[in-house]
Amino acid sequence: MRQRWPHGLLVVCSCWKTVAAEATSQVVFDYLWPIHISKVPLSTPGVEAMEPPEFGQALAELALSGFEDYVNKTLPLELKLDADFAEEFHGADHSRVNLAFRRWQRRVYAYANRDIYPESQLSADVLEGGWQSEFLAGGWARSMPLKEVNYSWPQLRQSSEFRKLQSHISELAKLYLKRSGSSFGNKFRIFTWAEVFRKGDALRPSAHTDGGLFMGRYWPQLKKNSLKFNFEDPRGINPPFGKTHTHSIEEGAMSMFPIWASHFITPNMKSRTAVCYAFIVYPEDGNTMDFEDDGTGKFKIERVPLK
Ligand SMILES: *[C@@H]1O[C@H](CO)[C@@H](O)[C@H](O)[C@H]1NC(C)=O
Ligand SMILES: *[C@@H]1O[C@H](CO)[C@@H](O)[C@H](O)[C@H]1NC(C)=O
Repeated sequence: MRQRWPHGLLVVCSCWKTVAAEATSQVVFDYLWPIHISKVPLSTPGVEAMEPPEFGQALAELALSGFEDYVNKTLPLELKLDADFAEEFHGADHSRVNLAFRRWQRRVYAYANRDIYPESQLSADVLEGGWQSEFLAGGWARSMPLKEVNYSWPQLRQSSEFRKLQSHISELAKLYLKRSGSSFGNKFRIFTWAEVFRKGDALRPSAHTDGGLFMGRYWPQLKKNSLKFNFEDPRGINPPFGKTHTHSIEEGAMSMFPIWASHFITPNMKSRTAVCYAFIVYPEDGNTMDFEDDGTGKFKIERVPLK
């Protein structure tokens, strides 16, 4: 089902469950628990987008150079100094470099926002509520920041493109939340992190029920058909459920979706590296949203069937 939003936003609803309710004279379908996915061409080449393709190129280069630095310098240091982390890392799958990169970026975010996160909290899980939100449980969540590691990425924070990206996210968040039936003011905390998918890199299924409002992914660099962005069936894995929905993406596209929607990225089949900026939008005062207030989880679509 598709409908146009103002500002060129495209709403794509994947409706998972159909319940028929018989009234005296008419039948109404209630589509329960649809996954509200909104896609916007942020810097998509060849279409009317909010930013030119160069915007995406600049952000892709930033992510790639930050990733290379992380993989060459920081990750070896973390593996050497943090035994718990090293053990989990070595036993993990093809998601592990991006998961480790994200873990470091979370600390970068926390250090860069010392005004909101006091020193005493830096070692704690400042952004996320439970173990599941850390992607990998156990040692990763518990281990402390290391004094030998440089937790800063000024090139990203200072980049005008990155700032612009954050402000686009903030603007689009208002629309997305309104459309989902939520209202959480006009100000947000946004944690954005970069992910880099070299040939063969993938991302295991995850959902982030951590008190955030919703999540999104923007693809500044993506070769056509190189990987799939898949959503898992929220009804569970048993037949007749257990379906997978592939959300179509292209270079420059940004998609927003509920924070509880478990998704995964299939391995990049092409030699061209794909770059993604993932983000979680939180209420202004942090990871405080109660699951019961999540408008995206109450979304329902009602339709009278075609005769
Ligand atoms: C990172 O390591 C690769 C392979 O060893 C090398 O080609 C590259 O120049 C290094 N980059 C940085 C920023 O150190
Ligand atoms: C940490 O890394 C950043 C980015 O590479 C660099 O600008 C900064 O000088 C480094 N800080 C220290 C203390 O080495």
